[in-house]
Amino acid sequence: MLNWDEETTPAASVAPGIALPPGGTMLGTQSFLAPRAPENAAAAFAAPRPQAAAQKMSERRVNAADKRIINGQTDVNQLVPFKYKWAWEKYLATCANHWMPQEVNMTRDIALWKDPNGLTEDERRIVKRNLGFFVTADSLAANNIVLGTYRHITAPECRQFLLRQAFEEAIHTHAYQYIVESLGLDEGEIFNAYHEVPAIRAKDEFLIPFIDAIMDPHFHTGTPEADQTLLKSLIVFACLMEGLFFYVGFTQILALGRQNKMTGAAEQYQYILRDESMHCNFGIDLINQLKLENPQLWTPAFKAEVKELFLKAVELEYRYAEDTMPRGVLGLNASMFKGYLRYIANRRATQIGLEPLFPNEENPFPWMSEMIDLKKERNFFETRVIEYQSGGALSWD
Ligand SMILES: [Fe+2]
Ligand SMILES: [Fe+2]
Repeated sequence: MLNWDEETTPAASVAPGIALPPGGTMLGTQSFLAPRAPENAAAAFAAPRPQAAAQKMSERRVNAADKRIINGQTDVNQLVPFKYKWAWEKYLATCANHWMPQEVNMTRDIALWKDPNGLTEDERRIVKRNLGFFVTADSLAANNIVLGTYRHITAPECRQFLLRQAFEEAIHTHAYQYIVESLGLDEGEIFNAYHEVPAIRAKDEFLIPFIDAIMDPHFHTGTPEADQTLLKSLIVFACLMEGLFFYVGFTQILALGRQNKMTGAAEQYQYILRDESMHCNFGIDLINQLKLENPQLWTPAFKAEVKELFLKAVELEYRYAEDTMPRGVLGLNASMFKGYLRYIANRRATQIGLEPLFPNEENPFPWMSEMIDLKKERNFFETRVIEYQSGGALSWD
């Protein structure tokens, strides 16, 4: 069994049904240093008596109970007092998992790749298709956070996680680039795969409208329609991109590593998988907290729309599995992934409060759950590891 559920936090830290302040637009950056005061205009322009002025200052202090995931009116520059402790804890956990691509030794991978008998053509196809998807996928994820999601989230604890997540997406893009460079692959071919390989292009075309919608400078939350647009975008990213579209690729490269092939690349994917499962779990917590604070958004029509998106994503990822594995390879084949993707989709659906889409699916790859749960000190592929959690001392020579 996967332990994904244990990683997410039931959104129970806030009493449900708290009404939003009126006129909640978005950002929090709108009021750069201080939240908009709720007083009326006449009071705002009247010269305050000293005592009244002091009271205003204390009223401006953030009360944790007033914080909101979206449309909040509290000062986004004040991290504390904490309200969303789960977000802060996940931020700390991601920092403890810090790693950099250059720490991983790629010598064995390079030798194997250059050996004409090192890998089969089908195995080479898997590596190239994989990198073809991921070299641009994590840039899409980073841009979605930095240019889209971030400005709409008004909880500073969640913004803190998103800042860390954005850096991790940069590390992931770096890792894929580092593998491409180490193996001496054709950069033009790999970096253009998302234009040129239909199964990859189809996945990106599914995602891009959800990025564009929230990146639009004219898009602001604060109406039911706009809040649903943001919620849908969060669901697509956490549950379907990071939570589903990455899993055929991760499974394939980790399957190579389990056969002692491309162990450097597999180690990097192992770290990326750990990061991504944290991103996915954070995203699910964010979605559930947003739902708790805005139950009016979770309408039957909205749920039906989300369900359709899940079904479409499973179909696209399965098509990608078929394209990357025209024949059985590494003990895997495309039809095994049909069950796996349905199994994962069920987990994601239930994690955000939907019914399972495909009842009674079993996990055909239980070893993947071990990978997800691996701690950094367990160096599965026996290559080099730097332990950040205990070895934080710097050497200055
Ligand atoms: Fe990533
Ligand atoms: Fe991610």
